[in-house]
Amino acid sequence: MSTPARKPVRGEAGFDLITPQWRQNAREIQKFGTVIRDLPIGLSEDLRREMCQRLNPLLADTASLRDLYKKSHWQVGGPTFYQLHLLFDKHFGEQVELVDLLAERIQILGGVSVAMAHDVAEVTRLERPPKGREEVPVQISRLLEAHALIIKDTRDLAERAEKLGDSGTNDLLVSDVLRTNEMQVWFLSEHLVEMPLVHAAKRQ
Ligand SMILES: [Fe+2]
Repeated sequence: MSTPARKPVRGEAGFDLITPQWRQNAREIQKFGTVIRDLPIGLSEDLRREMCQRLNPLLADTASLRDLYKKSHWQVGGPTFYQLHLLFDKHFGEQVELVDLLAERIQILGGVSVAMAHDVAEVTRLERPPKGREEVPVQISRLLEAHALIIKDTRDLAERAEKLGDSGTNDLLVSDVLRTNEMQVWFLSEHLVEMPLVHAAKRQ
């Protein structure tokens, strides 16, 4: 029985420089949940593990809120359609940036960021919305509940990061995540106020 011809390797005659070497497969190089990579940033492994364990659920919640904004952007209806359609998409874009910042912070800390929708769905603490459309006040309430959960978790985690001396995570959580979420809550909440449009409320 003849042995199959050995594939030429780089530098040998017959090595093909122009054909893409796709369909490659190998074991993953870092398991989810580990913090084995130690970048020289002066933070202990225990601290980095704790931060990554808590940042990943926050990342999953933020990714879910991002998608909830796009769902709301597509499915919104009624007399305020135009302004809400635009507002929801603006908030979506800001949540996209937060997702990226949180995911990259986890990588900097030596962890592995949760990424794919299936994995995000397993980790997030946000309530799953129905596939169908909902009325505007329900859409906004759902978004506000998601913000409330994220804001509380962000404050708790920011405090913990400060206590442990992880200023980078603390700054990201306060300056970016917290402030953006608080601002979005303000813009949403004003749409649930019964402000008269034409006739001012009568004096008592
Ligand atoms: Fe759009």
